[in-house]
Amino acid sequence: MSDVERSPTPEFSPLAFDEGLTPLPEYKAAGTTALDFSGLLSEPLKLHEDLKTGCGGQLWPAGMVLATHMLRYHRDKLQNSRLLELGAGGGLVGLAVARGCSLSSPLYITDQVEMESLMQHNISLNGLDGRVKAKILNWGEPLPQEIIDFKPDTILAADCVYFEPAFPLLLQTLQDLLALSPTATIYFCFKKRRRADMQFLKSAKKIFQVTEIEDEDRPVFSREGLFLYTFTSR
Ligand SMILES: C[S@@+](CC[C@H](N)C(=O)[O-])C[C@H]1O[C@@H](n2cnc3c(N)ncnc32)[C@H](O)[C@@H]1O
Repeated sequence: MSDVERSPTPEFSPLAFDEGLTPLPEYKAAGTTALDFSGLLSEPLKLHEDLKTGCGGQLWPAGMVLATHMLRYHRDKLQNSRLLELGAGGGLVGLAVARGCSLSSPLYITDQVEMESLMQHNISLNGLDGRVKAKILNWGEPLPQEIIDFKPDTILAADCVYFEPAFPLLLQTLQDLLALSPTATIYFCFKKRRRADMQFLKSAKKIFQVTEIEDEDRPVFSREGLFLYTFTSR
């Protein structure tokens, strides 16, 4: 990915041990990165990264793949869509979509309370107040009323498969969102780090129609253990 200015991003999760005993990587220092997603954004996105409130505070590889996919293939197709991002962290994917795709309604980036101020900071950093809303949405809990009223029909989720105890919670929220809008499409990208991550996919396939979607970068990201799918109602 040719980014305008990009500091190296170590893969970090307190729970990202592989089957072997991998030492924790160093915390990446807080800072702001400018991203143009291989030239797909004429005005680069500024993303402030800060790990002090959680692992979502840095950008993750599946976020880069999903944001690039949306900018490359959906730039003009989301005009009338109602978008919501789950586990947005600093908001990488949702903010890139808001910056680069034509949308007629504001989109929601959501995460746990710990990420709220970073999401809000990045919205303002990019002058996207009013076009992007930050909202707390905890997987496995009832959907906030504002989201129920919004009825999202396009859901984005990147690198949300990394912590096994959260798998059923995430699956529940995805199910709740599809129950709310049965024709919605979930764009789902994750990186396989541990064998258990494929269990998530197995469970998802029992509940949803899981479709591998076309992407010219697939040969590259597949080699790095990244998967890109849509989930829709069966
Ligand atoms: C690995 S980060 C990915 C961040 C971003 N999507 C990206 O690709 O750069 C996973 C995100 O999921 C969020 N998350 C984890 N468990 C969650 C839960 N139970 N409810 C809501 N969000 C959760 C974390 O706070 C974190 O921001």
